[in-house]
Amino acid sequence: MEILKSAIATELAAQSGFAAAGLDAQKIAENLSRPPKPEMGDLAFGCFKPAKDLNLKPNELASRAATGFAPGSHHALVQSAQAAGPYINLRLNRAAAASHVLAAIETTTVGQDPEQWRFGNSDEGDGKTLVIDLSSPNIAKPLAVHHLRSTMIGYAIKRIREAQGWRVVGVNHLGDWGTGFGKLIAGLKKYFPEIGKRAEAGDAKPLGDMSVAELNATYARFSAESKENEDLAEAGRTEFAVLEQHIEALIGGTRAAAGAHGEANFRIWQHTRELSLAEFERMYAHLGLSFHQWPVVDQQHARVLNAQPDNFYRDHCLYVGESYYVAAEDLCRRIIADAVANKVAEESEGALVIFTHGKDKPPLMLVKDDGATSYHVRDLAAAIYRHRHWHANELAYVVGGEQKWHFEQLFKALGLLGHEWSSQCMHIEFGLMMFQQADGKWAKTSTRRGTAIMLEDLLDEAVKSVREIMAAKNPELAASADAERIANAVGVGAVVFNDLKNGRRNNVKFDWDAVLDFEGESGPYMQYQFVRMGSVLNKFKQACGNLDNHDYPPYFKTRYSSGPDLDLDLSAGDAALLALPEEWAILQLLADFPAAVARASREYEPSIVARALIDLAGATSTWWSATKDTRIVGENANLSLARVRLVNAIRKVLGRGLTLLGMSLVERM
Ligand code: ARG
Repeated sequence: MEILKSAIATELAAQSGFAAAGLDAQKIAENLSRPPKPEMGDLAFGCFKPAKDLNLKPNELASRAATGFAPGSHHALVQSAQAAGPYINLRLNRAAAASHVLAAIETTTVGQDPEQWRFGNSDEGDGKTLVIDLSSPNIAKPLAVHHLRSTMIGYAIKRIREAQGWRVVGVNHLGDWGTGFGKLIAGLKKYFPEIGKRAEAGDAKPLGDMSVAELNATYARFSAESKENEDLAEAGRTEFAVLEQHIEALIGGTRAAAGAHGEANFRIWQHTRELSLAEFERMYAHLGLSFHQWPVVDQQHARVLNAQPDNFYRDHCLYVGESYYVAAEDLCRRIIADAVANKVAEESEGALVIFTHGKDKPPLMLVKDDGATSYHVRDLAAAIYRHRHWHANELAYVVGGEQKWHFEQLFKALGLLGHEWSSQCMHIEFGLMMFQQADGKWAKTSTRRGTAIMLEDLLDEAVKSVREIMAAKNPELAASADAERIANAVGVGAVVFNDLKNGRRNNVKFDWDAVLDFEGESGPYMQYQFVRMGSVLNKFKQACGNLDNHDYPPYFKTRYSSGPDLDLDLSAGDAALLALPEEWAILQLLADFPAAVARASREYEPSIVARALIDLAGATSTWWSATKDTRIVGENANLSLARVRLVNAIRKVLGRGLTLLGMSLVERM
């Protein structure tokens, strides 16, 4: 209805009764809603709010405004307006409404490249910037499930915001700094002495081909041992202190160089980072995301590019790891000095802290008791940097609900440090992904076929399963050159859609059968509906080309049977022939789509788009059952044309919605 509302409001404002009552289009549009029962009408104008402004009783306003209503031309959208208590019930000229909606879709979804489709776009965010923190895994650790959720939810939000006109800078706040790396380095040197030697000898790849799992195991082993052994614990702290000192000296900070020891630790750390990114990028490639190192260096001219064109941020997200604020900008130390000078921070048990929420709540840690920077201070630095560098109007953090307190403290501390824009910072929290265990219970860890699977395998596994299903159901397609791309799009889409179809704060049950179900509310089902509508279009094309079977007028052949697949101008289809209640139901859902995208954008809630698509797919399949006898592409040429016009609109809106969620479309499956 949403895209009809403003046109309807404009019509009503021109009616004598509405005009005499002082109701303008804006006021009318704001108070239009769908009545509880369809018998009442297609829309209702609620008089409570406007009556209050006009100092009238709602019933009185309703009867006054409805007086003298007369529909305009036969193209007018509103056919009748009847006062009923505090409401005016409106009946629409459904044919006019239908062609209004279809034309709106057709003019904004030209061609076959979904990235060019604009239905559901708005200019709400023009000139505004959102910096969104997404994915943000820790190096030297395997990706966790919450990083996958953060990536998928964050990416969908990014795309949805972009559709509303925002410039969106996606930042991967890599966990690549912190005292843990002291333990890792100490552990590597202890258990693999040759690594330390190689690093000291200047080898830039001292870790060889170590995997992230091995790095993580080394860290875990050392961490456990150092709990029992104070010497080891001390060694870990020293290794990190030396690393941090090395890097702070490098940027000309206040600290003295840490010599060969510092250089060696730096090499180990850098290689750890490199190996980890290589693994993370396997997941990002599956999802179609590209991350670019920040700052962007123009290798040819050996300079840093600070200003990027807007489409750069659309095509790439950025890696700006935690180390950046220590190693490149020295922001952390400046914030610390600032907090001390302004008496926002104080000393407590050898550490430097900020009591963000009074003395009874644990304080935010700025500097640890061993002098190292904290997770919190690096986040303060990141926020300040993002706000300053990109002139962010909003800063969003797509991070699991477990870190709620971290962000409450962070935003409060920003305010205490004098950044009034802290009110523009938002923690976009989300629930857990749950997996069913052998005993049937749901828990946080994943198992599949008896063995624990790593997260990076989750997407691989989904793609593999789709490949198997394809081989069984459609061997010809499975053997084609397209098979790999299709299996990836459908497999990854299955995981993405399963995640995004529920409100992000909810826990997601990851049930392989449901995820890959080709019939339920699943990604594969959505993809399949899209494919199916494409085949209907092609079927119509063939029917038009084949003059033997049908009494289609001959000009249908010239007009619709040639040209590239799916590219049909169906705007001549007569919307008045779409008279079934099932068709009206679909048209209303299509009309509501732009408002759903706008709301998803405002609320950082991709599930609103996913739900709109589920409803649309559901209404479409109801329509298909209802037209079993007459068929979509049937005997009657003009009826077929009108219906195919609707199919085309559904297909475009469905495709637009799926790509907004970060899924890729397929033409066959
Ligand atoms: N690296 C953290 C983790 O894996 C998430 C970081 C979230 N973003 C942030 N700005 N703190 O839990």
